[in-house]
Amino acid sequence: MKNGGQGSQETAVVLDGVCKRYGEVRALDGVSLTVGRGEFFGVLGPNGAGKTTLVEIVEGMRQPDSGTVSVFGESPWPRNLGLMRRIGVQTQTSAFFTRLTAWEHLETVAALHGLGRPAAHRALDAVGLADKARSRVDDLSGGQRQRLALATALVHDPDLIFLDEPTAALDPEARRSLWDVLRTLRGQGRTIVYTTHYLDEAEALCDRVAIIAAGRLAALDTPTALIRSLAAPARLLVPADRITPDQARAIEGVDRVLVEGGEVVIETHAANRVLVAVGEYVDMDAVQTRTATLEDAYLRLTGSEHAR
Ligand SMILES: Nc1ncnc2c1ncn2[C@@H]1O[C@H](COP(=O)(O)OP(=O)(O)OP(=O)(O)O)[C@@H](O)[C@H]1O
Ligand SMILES: [Mg+2]
Repeated sequence: MKNGGQGSQETAVVLDGVCKRYGEVRALDGVSLTVGRGEFFGVLGPNGAGKTTLVEIVEGMRQPDSGTVSVFGESPWPRNLGLMRRIGVQTQTSAFFTRLTAWEHLETVAALHGLGRPAAHRALDAVGLADKARSRVDDLSGGQRQRLALATALVHDPDLIFLDEPTAALDPEARRSLWDVLRTLRGQGRTIVYTTHYLDEAEALCDRVAIIAAGRLAALDTPTALIRSLAAPARLLVPADRITPDQARAIEGVDRVLVEGGEVVIETHAANRVLVAVGEYVDMDAVQTRTATLEDAYLRLTGSEHAR
């Protein structure tokens, strides 16, 4: 089950017409969506779009002005302690017991949940931090801290996990290894609501993404469908000394030809056919192919002036 029906067995989160204002600012302006159980659900959008407001309303930290929210069939507001036990929240500025070791920190968090050492062990192992168990929290690197923050959110074995930009400021390798941890969590049937500004990450991880712009839902679909719905062309980059723009324009299936830097850029919706034709002029190894990405879809949907 991925995309979720309407039945409470299949849905983790249902929002219907949710509005939230801060004075004159309409942070959320009628957002309706459903997150399926076991779904890896991305929340994307520009700074100030309303993502954190949305997530905090679902977590039960904020009350919507109007509209309804249900999490596993219950209302998260007023604060619903039964629901809190099933929810794990990793905020960007996580609080740690910094003078303790990573292990002692998790053991303490487990105790606060009324749980014992096995719960702390499980969380530490889940994020691949067992070899740092004896390091003080203060001495962990940024990436290790992010893992510990995730472990902190996992101690009580939640069904629904909220992650707010968990890979911000991580190096590429640390980012990829956190992806593996997140995929494992998803594989265990947990539902993950994931805010990020890294669109490659959303494309790689999320079953579906909601794009929020100015408090409204601009799009909600699988990354692949969002990219396809744009019908954005593929771009073939050919060194300019191998083909002239006119030669490129004469190829059947070419939509547009541009010259950028030392390259002729060929835009087409028939990449395979055009590639074969380009092969008459230039060795294939010299041609770079750029297909449309979620970033292209995002920039288009959020109305960015940078959309190409
Ligand atoms: N407590 C608050 N009081 C007043 N205005 C607020 C408050 N929280 C958020 N806002 C405003 O509501 C709008 C949405 O903010 P929100 O934090 O939900 O955006 P966001 O999508 O999470 O942005 P970012 O990507 O920068 O984290 C913004 O215009 C913000 O200034
Ligand atoms: Mg935010």
